[in-house]
Amino acid sequence: TAQDFSQCGTCAVVGNSGRLKGSKYGKKIDSHHFVLRMNTAQTAGFEEDVGTRTTHHFMYPESAVNLHAGVHLVLVPFKPLDLKWLASAFSSGEIKRTYQRVKPFIEADKSKVLILNPAFLKYIHDKWMKRFGRYPSTGFASLLFAIHTCKQVSAFGFGADSRGNWHHYWEKNRYAGAFRRTGVHNATFELALIEKLAVEGRISFYK
Ligand code: C5P
Repeated sequence: TAQDFSQCGTCAVVGNSGRLKGSKYGKKIDSHHFVLRMNTAQTAGFEEDVGTRTTHHFMYPESAVNLHAGVHLVLVPFKPLDLKWLASAFSSGEIKRTYQRVKPFIEADKSKVLILNPAFLKYIHDKWMKRFGRYPSTGFASLLFAIHTCKQVSAFGFGADSRGNWHHYWEKNRYAGAFRRTGVHNATFELALIEKLAVEGRISFYK
């Protein structure tokens, strides 16, 4: 099945960086066997730069969006409550907030749900990030997952803007530098690792 990553030959991991704007990477991204997107990523209106296909959508409760039929929802469980939320979002809808309001219900293919092993997240934080940042970003976790499961991995949409803002390709979020200040994620360290993986030939990094 498409769910089986042992079948994954080529994989595009698409981060949400504003660097994608004007890139015209859409066709290239869509040409991969698997296309991984994440959080509030959208394609409508941005097809030329980001493509149209999604096979797997990585998210956590605070970044959840409804998915089209056939797309795998991959939960990135940053905290135990995230697992409870997933169960709730497909049934009673009782969990309406975590540290902020979250979607009580999610529209997605129930039979295609995957949950990233929390131990895998810890492994990334310990061994790859040397515990820089409080935990890895969704994009970095998705990329590392792809590296461990697919033969050929291409990374798109990673990297801050020239002023260090964590910008998105679909909006002008000028105050997006918060992660740098709060230290939740270490964007600089993550990008350095991605560059290193590219130099070592373990991934193709499309800038
Ligand atoms: O902002 P968000 O977390 O939804 O973006 C998804 C992922 O894309 C991030 O976790 C990060 O790995 C990557 N990203 C990036 N540079 C940006 C925006 C996002 O590397 N400017």
